[in-house]
Amino acid sequence: MAHHHRSTTIFFPFFVMVVVSSFSFSSCIHHEHMLEDHNRFQEEIGYDFQAYPLYTSQVDIHGRGQLCDMNSTNQIEDERISSFDGLIRQFSDDSARSTIVVDNYGAKGDGSSDDTKAFQDAWNQSCSSTSPVTFVVSRGKQYLLKPITFSGPCNSPLTLQIYGTLKASDNRGDYRVDGRHWILFQRIKNLTVEGGGTINGNGNIWWQNSCKINKTLPCKEAPTAVTFYDCQNIIVENLNIEDAQQMHISFEQCSNVQASNLVVKSPEKSPNTDGIHVANTHNIQISSCTIGTGDDCISISNGSQNVQASDIICGPGHGISIGSLGAKNSEARVSGVFVNGANLSGTTNGIRIKTWQGGSGSASNMKFQNIQMQNVENPIIIDQNYCDQPTPCTHQESAVQVKNVFYQNISGTSASDIAINFDCSKSYPCEGILLQNVDLVKEGGGASNASCNNIHLINVGTVSPRCP
Ligand SMILES: *[C@@H]1O[C@H](CO)[C@@H](O)[C@H](O)[C@H]1NC(C)=O
Ligand SMILES: *[C@@H]1O[C@H](CO)[C@@H](O)[C@H](O)[C@H]1NC(C)=O
Ligand SMILES: *[C@@H]1O[C@H](CO)[C@@H](O)[C@H](O)[C@H]1NC(C)=O
Ligand SMILES: *[C@@H]1O[C@H](CO)[C@@H](O)[C@H](O)[C@H]1NC(C)=O
Ligand SMILES: *[C@@H]1O[C@H](CO)[C@@H](O)[C@H](O)[C@H]1NC(C)=O
Ligand SMILES: *[C@@H]1O[C@H](CO)[C@@H](O)[C@H](O)[C@H]1NC(C)=O
Ligand SMILES: *[C@@H]1O[C@H](CO)[C@@H](O)[C@H](O)[C@H]1NC(C)=O
Ligand SMILES: *[C@@H]1O[C@H](CO)[C@@H](O)[C@H](O)[C@H]1NC(C)=O
Repeated sequence: MAHHHRSTTIFFPFFVMVVVSSFSFSSCIHHEHMLEDHNRFQEEIGYDFQAYPLYTSQVDIHGRGQLCDMNSTNQIEDERISSFDGLIRQFSDDSARSTIVVDNYGAKGDGSSDDTKAFQDAWNQSCSSTSPVTFVVSRGKQYLLKPITFSGPCNSPLTLQIYGTLKASDNRGDYRVDGRHWILFQRIKNLTVEGGGTINGNGNIWWQNSCKINKTLPCKEAPTAVTFYDCQNIIVENLNIEDAQQMHISFEQCSNVQASNLVVKSPEKSPNTDGIHVANTHNIQISSCTIGTGDDCISISNGSQNVQASDIICGPGHGISIGSLGAKNSEARVSGVFVNGANLSGTTNGIRIKTWQGGSGSASNMKFQNIQMQNVENPIIIDQNYCDQPTPCTHQESAVQVKNVFYQNISGTSASDIAINFDCSKSYPCEGILLQNVDLVKEGGGASNASCNNIHLINVGTVSPRCP
């Protein structure tokens, strides 16, 4: 098993120069040797800034607090975002569309009849069509569905217009074959799911039977309400997703995804009900989403690269999390996370990176900016001693390396005394951590504190609280 070597060569000023040099801003200080450093840096972390440049494109300092040309950097960002946008929007703009209404395939939409077969038939018809199809779920109706798989590959781009409500069967026996998924989209390219309707996981029965709620019960996973697995060019927008059995919406092994204008909601006490989960997925933009659940609003796990989230309202919930990573001595890799614009309120965490002891690999190149926290328990936290199991975790040397993480323009209030908590690994300290314009006070007034272990960081501008 290839273990990461210690990256003693990476220290903060070096990193910042590297990032900036990757863009050749005319107004930024630029030296020949930086390019070499840049290449070494890419080799070191296996991250291609040219291929995944989005999160770095607004980096505005080069380690001495001077600003680069924000105008040109914004321009770079705009261009890249719009080309990404164009790439996946092409397919939704098509005139020769046919419409398939699920009601014409026998769906009742009365809230109690099982409409699973009608959906499956209508999907099969849609998927085999050689011209683009709009699959319509009617307004004002409620369709009861057992676990269902919408499989591709399909012959044409599809749009699933959900105007009404999809409601999950709450007979747990219905999930005997596959206990992990309710609605599963798999191996589909060019799919839009939209319509302003509701997807309701009807999760109460699952929550009651969770070992986190009833400690006498064994721990078992519950279904994810909506999963996209091995899909490309996906748009999911303008939907309400609520009361999931476990996670609400999960993107796994996908690429080129836009998720926007989603309202994700379940009770604060519902266990493990992550809002939007991203795993093994490349190039995903999550924007303008309002998420309040019993677990992470957004969780980003192993194998994800170039994940952007903007205009996120989160709470209640566990905040925006990277991880957990490295469980059971696994190797994990997450890079290129850019969160820009979030409002977290009453959450247990704000921005969290969590890794288990004993893992390997890295969590790197992340930027969290323009974030407002209100009464958040742990506003900024890196936890390399994460342990979510009934028995205590034993000490292990190895760790997932956390490096190159920027926190910029983050303000608000902390519910606890410790607003900034960096609990990094002793053998693999956190490297290249930047705090710039961070101002977190205690909710109700007074100063908060920072707790910092095994971290190499730099403060720029106003940073409060500061690591001792
Ligand atoms: C950025 O653009 C604005 C308006 O176009 C201009 O007034 C300003 O001087 C520019 N700033 C820099 C640093 O070039
Ligand atoms: C839909 O198509 C899949 C594969 O193409 C097939 O396995 C399944 O039986 C079909 N379902 C129905 C209800 O026709
Ligand atoms: C998906 O969209 C791409 C880009 O427009 C196109 O090349 C491809 O043929 C489409 N595939 C399907 C199944 O729609
Ligand atoms: C917890 O589960 C046990 C075993 O199924 C059951 O007897 C008990 O009533 C449950 N407790 C609650 C509070 O639901
Ligand atoms: C993490 O993702 C990488 C691919 O990016 C994969 O090789 C590795 O097996 C994954 N680890 C776990 C624990 O799933
Ligand atoms: C953030 O959310 C809180 C609570 O909903 C609200 O009071 C506050 O105005 C919001 N702040 C911003 C910047 O949207
Ligand atoms: C800082 O973030 C807040 C939102 O939290 C935003 O309103 C403000 O414009 C940001 N300031 C700068 C300088 O980007
Ligand atoms: C912060 O930490 C210092 C030193 O441990 C302690 O004296 C002080 O009371 C703490 N302040 C808060 C607000 O927790």
